[in-house]
Amino acid sequence: MEKDILIPRDTIQKRVKEIANQISSDYKGREPILIGILNGVVFFFADLVREISIPTKIDFIRAASYGSKTTSSGKIRLTKNVEIPIQGESVIVVEDIVDTGLTLTHIVKDLEAKGVESLRICALIDKVERRDLTVHIDYCGFKTEEGFIVGYGLDYNEKYRHLPDICVLR
Ligand code: IMP
Ligand code: MG
Repeated sequence: MEKDILIPRDTIQKRVKEIANQISSDYKGREPILIGILNGVVFFFADLVREISIPTKIDFIRAASYGSKTTSSGKIRLTKNVEIPIQGESVIVVEDIVDTGLTLTHIVKDLEAKGVESLRICALIDKVERRDLTVHIDYCGFKTEEGFIVGYGLDYNEKYRHLPDICVLR
C-alpha cells in the first residue's frame, strides 16, 4: 500500500518536547501516573515520559475492539488493566490516536471508577472529524483530517508501526 509522510520525525520530536514541558509545569510538585494505551502508544509514550522533567510513574492498559481494523465496531474490552494502585492519584491517560472516542470513553469510565484524584487525557493525534463521543483531550499532539494514519507506533493490521515518521495510507 502507498504511504505519504504526514508528520516528519523532527516535527514529532519538537511537539513531544512541548507537550512534556506543559505537563512538567502543570504537575509541578506532584508525581502523576502516566497510563499508556498499548500497543500503538509505545514510541510516543517512551519519548514523552523521558522528556518530562518531574517524577512520574508509568503503567499500561491494553484495549481490544471487536470487528474490522479500520473502523471501531462499538465494543471495547480491556485485555490488560492497570496494575499499580491509582486511587487518589493524578492520572494522565496517554493514547496514540482518538478516532470515534469509544476506546477512551470506556477507559476513562473504568479509571474514574477506581477513584482517581484527577484524570487528564494526552493524545498524539486527534482525528477531529470522526468523533462520535465527546472526549476532552487536554494535551493534543496533532489534529488530522480524514485518512488512515500509520507509523510511529500506529499500525494497519500490525504493519508499519516501526516507521519513524507519521504517515498516511493511500
Ligand atoms: P476509537 O475508539 O474509535 O477512538 O479508536 C481508537 C483506536 O483505533 C486507536 O487507539 C487506534 O488503535 C485505532 N485507530 C483509529 N484510527 C486509526 C488510524 O488512523 N490509524 C491507526 N490506528 C487507528
Ligand atoms: Mg490504540
